[in-house]
Amino acid sequence: MRVLVVGGGGREHTLCWTLARSAQVFCAPGNPGTAQLGTNLPVEPDDHQGITDAVQAHQVDLTVIGPEAPLAAGLTDHLTAAGHYVFGPTAAAARIESSKAYAKEIMLAAGVPTPTSETFRDQGRALDYIRGHAEPLVVKASGLAAGKGAIVCETRVHAEAAVRQMFGGAFGEAGKVVLVEEFVSGEEISILVVTDGERHLVLPPSQDHKRIGEGDTGLNTGGMGAYTPVSIADDALMDRVDREILEPIFHTLHQQNTPYTGVLYAGLMVGDTGDLSVLEFNCRFGDPEAQVVLPASALDLAPHAWAIAAGEHWSPGSSRCRAARAAVTTVLASHGYPASPRKGDPITVPGELPAETLLFHAGTAMDRDGTLRTAGGRVLSATGLGRDVPEAAARSRALAEAITFAGRQLRRDIAWREVARAGAS
Ligand code: GLY
Repeated sequence: MRVLVVGGGGREHTLCWTLARSAQVFCAPGNPGTAQLGTNLPVEPDDHQGITDAVQAHQVDLTVIGPEAPLAAGLTDHLTAAGHYVFGPTAAAARIESSKAYAKEIMLAAGVPTPTSETFRDQGRALDYIRGHAEPLVVKASGLAAGKGAIVCETRVHAEAAVRQMFGGAFGEAGKVVLVEEFVSGEEISILVVTDGERHLVLPPSQDHKRIGEGDTGLNTGGMGAYTPVSIADDALMDRVDREILEPIFHTLHQQNTPYTGVLYAGLMVGDTGDLSVLEFNCRFGDPEAQVVLPASALDLAPHAWAIAAGEHWSPGSSRCRAARAAVTTVLASHGYPASPRKGDPITVPGELPAETLLFHAGTAMDRDGTLRTAGGRVLSATGLGRDVPEAAARSRALAEAITFAGRQLRRDIAWREVARAGAS
């Protein structure tokens, strides 16, 4: 089977690595890491005709779309209309991520637990609402904002400022519709689900680390590291995730004529008393969650993705895929990330990777002479595997520390909650 992965980040490198188990891989545009696994094609994900031409030229059997932007822009629809198989939702179904207002409507229709919120197209009404509600509050841009569109506001004054910022154009089109949401506390987990819209396969739960600094401090990022499995997401909790969230949401999407295929990512809050609420749905694998969930689960994704894309009768075998190993990934970010990432710093990587580690490329570029350089905000993901999360975390951190470049940023506390739980048990 010939598979094209669309995108060029750490998630897409991990997808290529996973799919290469049983497929010949192409990646558009890819990165120096994906080039080691297959063929990079110089086509950008927003060039729908260019991607379609590449699929035809390289006789690709299946396209797997990594990032949300091409999904939201209708790349699946474009390729499908040209007669090609795609693993990823249509633009209509991808609205579950590209419109937080729509996602709330679907959740309410499905009876899925989610924080109370109100949607506004008008700044004045949003400000009035804030004045009548208790702080803290969360202000969210409804559209796609590269993971930076949700602002937790400790005070009403801060929430008013966030609303003014969004309606003032700071988030472009994404901030033309704004949600003001109740703040819920607890521990966030990421649930990635492979689905054909009727049946689903839940991958091992993981936890992301969104802040740039250790101890979960500083600016929000796309994600500075992740781990799996998460012990609080035990069988009992995952049964509830199925019953209270996944079954009703897929049923409602189907009823509303937007059947969902591909990967659905549920960002959940597990409250201190075990209550669940969905903070967001995303229409794709998480990044950096993919860098731990796929290696830890050892899932042979290609046959599943192909059966779903081809509309064949797909049988996931079981509704849950468990982590065969623990995995932790530490993201190496460039100088100035997330505000203004610097490009062009030479990177030194150990000649041979230590045992039980994987290195996934994201914002890297290679000069003609073989020099690897930083080329984006999140540069590399250093994944460690192990019998348990503490062992995997130590391997991930050791690999990350062994990679050097000027201005390198990394967190040395990835998986700190799970390491603390393991120490306490
Ligand atoms: N790691 C968060 C995301 O992929 O949206």
